[in-house]
Amino acid sequence: MNKNDTLLKTLFVGISVCLFCSIIISTAAVELRGLQQQNKLKDQQSKILSSAGLLTNKTSVSELFSSIEEKIINLETGEYEDSLDPNTFNGRLFESQDYSKDLTTSIVLSSKKVLTSKTRENFAKIYFYKEGGQIKAIVLPVRGLGLWGTLYGYLAIEPDLETIIGLEYHTHKETPGLGAEVDNPRWKSLWKGKKIYSQSGEVKISVIKGLVDPDSSEADYQIDGLSGATITSTGVSNMLSFWLGDLGYGKFLKKLKKELEEKEIFNV
Ligand SMILES: Cc1cc2nc3c(=O)[nH]c(=O)nc-3n(C[C@H](O)[C@H](O)[C@H](O)COP(=O)(O)O)c2cc1C
Repeated sequence: MNKNDTLLKTLFVGISVCLFCSIIISTAAVELRGLQQQNKLKDQQSKILSSAGLLTNKTSVSELFSSIEEKIINLETGEYEDSLDPNTFNGRLFESQDYSKDLTTSIVLSSKKVLTSKTRENFAKIYFYKEGGQIKAIVLPVRGLGLWGTLYGYLAIEPDLETIIGLEYHTHKETPGLGAEVDNPRWKSLWKGKKIYSQSGEVKISVIKGLVDPDSSEADYQIDGLSGATITSTGVSNMLSFWLGDLGYGKFLKKLKKELEEKEIFNV
């Protein structure tokens, strides 16, 4: 053994290398955080646009997104919540500010089947796409439990507030080839034109087990199940029932529908 190879020197070199590497990694993590958040935001914006069928290769996401109007709504009252600024509102759907943890800004749920938490925040940021001042699409954030965790996505609906334009997920932990087929363009294309509510106003849209029979009277309310992924499929159905019902956007959608119908009558 070389007399330079003492235990102390070996330890010193080892610790120095570890320290150096950890400084590099922490610096990179801190420096890249902003960029990561920017990319996450851009990804969410592209999913919002995509759910409404507005994403094209020709125009950049930020340019396309500039035509989207953001609004905060109060899920309890169904009214717009003008006291909250959409630009700073971070909602419950992603990170930090968590209105669902405060009992003055949330409601207690009887089941954890969909949200995994015991509460549901009272506020949500929704997105409008308008042309010539007229609403052409409304995009609603949705989330709910799949097999491995919560799926986060956006549901775009027509201004009739009954017809689906598209459903896009931006974050989930489902298995590639099984539950992660929620990202498959073929499956996503099945949503366009599907109806949400029954004649009596109940949420009827659901992902069934197996394939939809196009001749069935129920076909307008059904989506093909993801094969080998019944739990994810059921999760998608459950989250849509929740978010489109009275615990979700139901109250707001009913108010908006009335408002839009009155406007139409007024215009005629
Ligand atoms: C490794 C592994 C990953 C799985 N991933 C999913 C998944 O992402 N989503 C899902 O619903 N089922 C998944 N499953 C299958 C479920 O455990 C369950 O068997 C399935 O949902 C039943 O669906 P089926 O009735 O269509 O077969 C996975 C199973 C295994 C072994």
